[in-house]
Amino acid sequence: MTELKNDRFLRALLRQPVDVTPVWMMRQAGRYLPEYRASRSRAGDFMALCSNPELACEVTLQPLERYPLDAAILFSDILTIPDAMGLGLYFEPGEGPRFKKPVQTAAAIEALDVVDPYKDLGYVVDAVSTIRRELNGRVPLIGFSGSPWTLMTYMVEGGSSKDFRRAKAMLYDQPEVAGMLLDKLADSVIAYLNAQIKAGAQAVQIFDSWGGALAHDAYLKFSLAPMKKIIAGLIKEHEGRQVPIILFTKGGGQWLEPMADSGATALGLDWTTPIANAKARVGGKVALQGNMDPSVLYASPDRIRAEVARILSEFGRGNGHVFNLGHGITPEVDPEHAGAFIRAVHEFSAQYHAQP
Ligand code: CP3
Repeated sequence: MTELKNDRFLRALLRQPVDVTPVWMMRQAGRYLPEYRASRSRAGDFMALCSNPELACEVTLQPLERYPLDAAILFSDILTIPDAMGLGLYFEPGEGPRFKKPVQTAAAIEALDVVDPYKDLGYVVDAVSTIRRELNGRVPLIGFSGSPWTLMTYMVEGGSSKDFRRAKAMLYDQPEVAGMLLDKLADSVIAYLNAQIKAGAQAVQIFDSWGGALAHDAYLKFSLAPMKKIIAGLIKEHEGRQVPIILFTKGGGQWLEPMADSGATALGLDWTTPIANAKARVGGKVALQGNMDPSVLYASPDRIRAEVARILSEFGRGNGHVFNLGHGITPEVDPEHAGAFIRAVHEFSAQYHAQP
């Protein structure tokens, strides 16, 4: 295997010393980039892009050609798992993801099979190995999956939802049925992420985008518990290196302590928790990733630089920080502003890592 030329992302996740704070952006390959829009229109649509390993590799590398990012993330989607389970994923232009066959009954959930990634998601496994080969050691590659609860919301609602009415009704009305679905999803995610790791993913992130919508007890039982099962089932070391696990619950600032005891290597933070507060609460156990409000990227480069400097000074000296946005970059952002953000992280963070 090729030697990694830039491993500061992996080192920061393990809370080891680095020269500057590493940075990447959730959704870094996406519609804000004109070259992404061109690739997507050549492919035909978004799923055609995901299901073709060469094209998925092409768009994964696009943001790295533009910016000095410290990690690449597999180009795919969290909804590939329910699609592989037979729900029939499609994208309605302007409407977001939809399923032809949502699962809303005990019988429908009983009929679901745990996915075999090599059989049902071979295109993702192939994309990972293609990207690893093309990266040639430039930066580490992140694999990812949705959390069971987040996947369940799309599967039960049949698409995006504002209030998660049907999915939450299932948690409260039929907790055993919900539990069966969450368990099948956890087993699918374990197999899927382990296949990504074996194909070359050097860190993995679990996107729990909708955990923050749950009540306290419901979060612990229906979102965190299945994620803990996943973490326990993942390959911890590959190619002689630890494979860090990043747990990102959007809106999860009130659960940092139980999340830090989940076995995760690092916690993703959205922008609502001050990073100094998060560091004081869990910094001895896990690294932190985040946490600039993605909307700051709508402001001028000067304001963006000032906000980066502020977050870095709030984290202060010490290891275990990966800079990121608190959620994905949005399609309306000017690519020049994303560049100003990334360069500012490297420029302003060196002072916090220099030997005193
Ligand atoms: O971060 C990356 O660059 C990797 C690629 C990635 C995508 N989706 C590509 C994508 C990742 C990590 C995801 C995860 C994902 N997908 C999540 C969890 C992260 C989060 O944002 O909370 C969720 C909830 C989804 C489900 C999903 N996929 C939605 C709601 C949408 C439509 C929203 C939109 O922006 O239109 C998608 C489509 C999607 N996934 C796009 C991309 C680049 C846009 C598709 C397009 O129009 O080209």
